[in-house]
Amino acid sequence: MKAKKILVLLGSPRKKGNSTALADQIIAGAESAGAATEKIYLHGQSISPCQACYACQRPDSKGCAIDDEMQPIYPKLIEADGWVIASPVYWFSMTAQTKLFLDRCFALPAYQKDAFAGKRIAVAMSFGDEDAFNSGCVNALRTFQDAARYVGANLVGMVYGSADKLGEIKSNTGLMQQAELLGRKLVGRSSAG
Ligand SMILES: Cc1cc2nc3c(=O)[nH]c(=O)nc-3n(C[C@H](O)[C@H](O)[C@H](O)COP(=O)(O)O)c2cc1C
Repeated sequence: MKAKKILVLLGSPRKKGNSTALADQIIAGAESAGAATEKIYLHGQSISPCQACYACQRPDSKGCAIDDEMQPIYPKLIEADGWVIASPVYWFSMTAQTKLFLDRCFALPAYQKDAFAGKRIAVAMSFGDEDAFNSGCVNALRTFQDAARYVGANLVGMVYGSADKLGEIKSNTGLMQQAELLGRKLVGRSSAG
């Protein structure tokens, strides 16, 4: 059987940060379930904001009109069986890097009509506050839930926790275990196939 492909989008500027540590655990779970994974650090990529030209929404559209480093990401998103989206909380929501990526996903159906349908998605978030509500993490989680429902994607699960210093989240063994389990679940088949 062909290995499932999991694409991991990392939205923190800290390459060894807490959200990435959570994503790494999801990757470990996914790989132990036989998946092949690929990481993309969104920070440092030249990904412009959506310019609302609506070129991607035309019936004969060939894709997003902006020629930047989001272009090679589109086919990877389509090919992948599942996505992991990881971000810290910045100002009570996801990071700007993550939001730019999300906005540009507006064009994904121009590359393949049903690109979002049933796409399996896992979300990982870290925040400095002690509480998921006070931190604003819940705002971002709700955004992912609403977006997944809107496009018909399958939000398989979300892991999130409090941590501030670089990699501090790794000492939260319960959460790390949860992330590993989410990685396995992400690779498993949904009832819809
Ligand atoms: C610009 C900036 C804004 C932040 N805003 C919030 C916030 O609104 N709520 C919160 O709980 N933590 C906030 N934090 C703390 C980070 O979410 C926290 O340190 C997180 O664990 C960092 O994850 P990372 O290591 O993956 O980058 C902020 C940090 C920065 C640098």
